[in-house]
Amino acid sequence: SGPRHLMSIADLTPAEFSSIVRNAAVRKQAVKAGQTPPSLSTSLSGQTIAMMFSKRSTRTRVSTEAAVTMLGGHPMFLGKDDIQLGVNESLYDTSVVISSMTSCMVARVGPHSDVANLAKHSSVPVINALSEDFHPLQTIADFLTIHEAFPSSKPSGPGLGLNGLKVAWVGDSNNVLFDLAIGCVKMGVDIAVASPAGYGIPDKMRQLIISSAEGVSSPGKLSETMVPEEAIKGADVLVTDTWISMGQESEQQKRLNSFAGYQITNDLAKRGGAKEGWKFMHCLPRHPEEVADEVFYSPRSLVFPEAENRLWAAVAALEGFVVNKGSLLQ
Ligand code: CP
Ligand code: NVA
Repeated sequence: SGPRHLMSIADLTPAEFSSIVRNAAVRKQAVKAGQTPPSLSTSLSGQTIAMMFSKRSTRTRVSTEAAVTMLGGHPMFLGKDDIQLGVNESLYDTSVVISSMTSCMVARVGPHSDVANLAKHSSVPVINALSEDFHPLQTIADFLTIHEAFPSSKPSGPGLGLNGLKVAWVGDSNNVLFDLAIGCVKMGVDIAVASPAGYGIPDKMRQLIISSAEGVSSPGKLSETMVPEEAIKGADVLVTDTWISMGQESEQQKRLNSFAGYQITNDLAKRGGAKEGWKFMHCLPRHPEEVADEVFYSPRSLVFPEAENRLWAAVAALEGFVVNKGSLLQ
């Protein structure tokens, strides 16, 4: 059988997902305490990690390059004008060639089928660095952030001890939401989604999110509404993302109109009845229309630790999929 790939959080069992998040936390604590295990910095020595990005990136690029450096490998960044990714050469040919010379391909693409096709023909692990459908590295970082903000009363049990927490997503139903929702269902965290008409979760994706509950003893529940206040009721964490994802630039005006009233503000959180100590998260890059400064730059906001956690998520994902070849329960 071929290498194991990370396309979506849907590829992971709950135990595997919590193991990656816990490893990210362990690495973060050790490195910050000046106690980096000596073996960490040689895990990828002599190995090249190809980073094939057909879209812009700040966090995913910097965190992946920094993580590869920390593990002693070489990150090779290949932007959309550097290689022939799906433009002048088939994905099959590209995948076979690049995987013959590297230890992993980390790819940021448009249609999800692009990264899935790279994976299908690759002889090395492929990690999805964002597609139109999923953003698994973001979800690992997001759960590390939630894990830090809501320390578990049962730190050593299965999962992350987050059962009973409620996340409210107010905004566009997009790639970041889909993997977050899958993670929530698997971790026993309820997730309520508020999106305007026409911007809800597509049927196939809803099926995938709901089917993530299979085999989970107390899965989180997904609920959907068009009323932001309804989703926010009793929520511990309010989350959003841009209303205009990469590739949707031509829909900007239409989307700004459709999402009117969805901006996360203190007033909206109050009207909706969020929990008193509610926190705010956003994967970034952020635009002012989806969240007001009073929330984004407030003590409730976890956005900068969340961004930093991308580094530790990348370390854990590379260790799990490349160093340990997909044996995630270490
Ligand atoms: N959150 C995130 O993936 O950011 P970038 O697009 O800057 O990588
Ligand atoms: N939904 C956004 C996320 C960027 C990190 C996009 O796809 O552009």
